Amino acid sequence: MKVIAVYSTKGGVGKTTTAVNLAWEAAADLRVLLWDLDPQGAATYLLDVKPKLKGGIEALVDGRSSTRSVVRQTANRRLDVIPADAGYRELDLVFDAAKKSAERITRILSQVERDYDLVILDCPPGESLVAQNALHAADLVVVPLVPSPLSLRSLDQVRTIVAEAEHPATLLAFLSMVDRRKVAHRDAVRDLHRSQADVSNIVVPSTVVIERMGSERTAVAEYAPNTEAARSFSELWVRAQSLVKAKRRKR
Ligand SMILES: Nc1ncnc2c1ncn2[C@@H]1O[C@H](COP(=O)(O)OP(=O)(O)O)[C@@H](O)[C@H]1O
Ligand SMILES: [Mg+2]
Repeated sequence: MKVIAVYSTKGGVGKTTTAVNLAWEAAADLRVLLWDLDPQGAATYLLDVKPKLKGGIEALVDGRSSTRSVVRQTANRRLDVIPADAGYRELDLVFDAAKKSAERITRILSQVERDYDLVILDCPPGESLVAQNALHAADLVVVPLVPSPLSLRSLDQVRTIVAEAEHPATLLAFLSMVDRRKVAHRDAVRDLHRSQADVSNIVVPSTVVIERMGSERTAVAEYAPNTEAARSFSELWVRAQSLVKAKRRKR
């Protein structure tokens, strides 16, 4: 089982959108579990699952609930979800109260090691203990970057946090919400992947096709397969998969 964390210190950059579409692509041939770690529950909503964790998050973290008991099915038979829950607002405190507080996600996932080939973690923004947990568990960290000076700063922050881990994950950044009418965006598309080794040349356009996920409540590939948006997520999955395969097992 491999783990991909979709993460940035910044909010609103396309993490959840990426997590759901990557999970869907991966589920074409792997057994995939997506864990929605954001109390906002956007990934849970997009996959049409009830935002409630059976037994609550504390029971899952302290071992009274099993991981299997909190998993829910989606419309895709190879894609399951651990839903968001209002209790995740206190997730940092719950982790902090537990032993080895940065390794709780790794422990919780080890129970389903044989049930899934891939886990995707949809992380909340910020440098929380939740993020530390996700990065501890992750083999690969996927970072969406909206072309702007601020997002490059956030990439630097992510690099620093990832590098501090005991077994650092591989980083895969890509440009998200790109609007080619804007000069700064076109410049970023041309220059960024050349100057930064961990930024790929994959570009996810800013488009209403992607915004529609909120009403379709499924991945772009399901309702708009022949679009640039769908192709960009498929390309991102191919890249992510090859990086994850090349990574030696952590667990
Ligand atoms: N490529 C895109 N084009 C247009 N809208 C997008 C795109 N990616 C994300 N969005 C929209 O932007 C908002 C934030 O995206 P989201 O994936 O939830 O970001 P995050 O998880 O980083 O906060 C959502 O309303 C989403 O539909
Ligand atoms: Mg999100």
